[in-house]
Amino acid sequence: MLTTKPEPKIVVTPPGPKAKELFAKYTDKLSRSVVGFYPLVAESATGCIVKDVDGNEFIDFNSGLAVMNVGHSHPRVIKAIKEQAEKLTHYSWTDFCYAPIVDLAEQLIKITPGVSPKQVFFANGGAEANEAAMKMTRWHTRKALFLAYTNSFHGRTFAAMSLTASKPVQRRHFFPLGQEVTHVPYPYCYRCPFHLTYPECNMWCVDFIEEEVLKKFHPPEDTAAMFVEPIQGEGGYVVPPEDYFPRLKKLLDKYDILMVDDEIQSGIGRTGKWFAIEHWAGVVPDIVTVAKALGGGLPISAAIAKEELMDWEGGSHANTTGGNPVACAAGVQVINIIRDERLLENATRQGAYLMKRLKEMQQKYPIIGDLRGKGLMVGAELVKDQETKEPAAQEATEVINKCFKRGLAIITSGKSTIRFAPPLIITRETMDSALEVLEGAIKEVNAQLK
Ligand SMILES: Cc1ncc(COP(=O)(O)O)c(C=O)c1O
Repeated sequence: MLTTKPEPKIVVTPPGPKAKELFAKYTDKLSRSVVGFYPLVAESATGCIVKDVDGNEFIDFNSGLAVMNVGHSHPRVIKAIKEQAEKLTHYSWTDFCYAPIVDLAEQLIKITPGVSPKQVFFANGGAEANEAAMKMTRWHTRKALFLAYTNSFHGRTFAAMSLTASKPVQRRHFFPLGQEVTHVPYPYCYRCPFHLTYPECNMWCVDFIEEEVLKKFHPPEDTAAMFVEPIQGEGGYVVPPEDYFPRLKKLLDKYDILMVDDEIQSGIGRTGKWFAIEHWAGVVPDIVTVAKALGGGLPISAAIAKEELMDWEGGSHANTTGGNPVACAAGVQVINIIRDERLLENATRQGAYLMKRLKEMQQKYPIIGDLRGKGLMVGAELVKDQETKEPAAQEATEVINKCFKRGLAIITSGKSTIRFAPPLIITRETMDSALEVLEGAIKEVNAQLK
């Protein structure tokens, strides 16, 4: 059993003996292509607390990589999984039909931005949803090229990897990738790739796409779609300025280029709205891709598209285990729980509190260079020097390792950003417990800065 108090409980400094033993086997028997943050060996979890195999309890500030938005083992999700598992665990949606997939499609269509009719393609994971969006836009438009951003992450299968551009290791020795993608700079204002300052820059990063890309070497007539993360996830929780996406969408519409909104990390309530793109008023993407939090811990993903884009012929795209009925039943409950428990409101409220506390810390600890985020998708970028903004990558790793030892499971993204993505059910009390651990770690690491 987990303790009910929302605070860390360390009974043996992690990794304890059982964790060490299992972790050694994990390192020995599982693919070397994965690289974790620290040896947290999870055994069970409830709400915002994850318990390891030695009995340590951690506050989960990463939600299992932005998956457990409604918290771990939510009773309604567990009940739905059990009930559906007793009735039907599989019956390939691309050849047959079952109720949970229809229910989830209807729910997704309701919460996705835009009033025009939509249809849903289901798959298993995020990369696969983006692959579906690539194929769909190419089939519909008969155009071959794509646009995406530097610093982006859209998955690791070959086509999705062609879009992904946040770390060389994700692509090294894997060429050729197979897809024609041009990457343009993301509006990362803290580190503007053009060394300009917002708003005086007048958002040259949008005009750049037109002037230097579409007009010079990447013909719009051959461009099917642009893939966007409304807030870059793996790239460091980077938030574009408030007038950015309306201006970008206008440009894409001008050239008949579709917008695919990758909400795999930022969607399903994480930012205090169903989808992060809704923070940019009036922007309606042509396709939205979701995964991660949708299944409440079970693997499922989807591409939700304007109906006219789903004109691909029967047999042109399908899968066997996508849209699994148990995962769909869990997904329906995830959406109901977010609505019934008013978790969008809670994400907004707790996110504002988190930001306030982090700003107070920033006053005390110059290692915190930039703070940004929406709702409960918040990043604190650590720097060695506020003037030079040199990334404090090693220091960010030290902070999360210290937190791990003290019972807070928090991770980094980008080069040196601490990412805050707790379950949306988090309370003020749990937030305070977590921030106490975090502040202790930041204070110590900040003191070591020369
Ligand atoms: C924005 C975004 N897109 C796509 C993916 C890929 O999802 P998956 O790992 O389920 O393939 C991720 C995963 O982190 C992501 O953050």
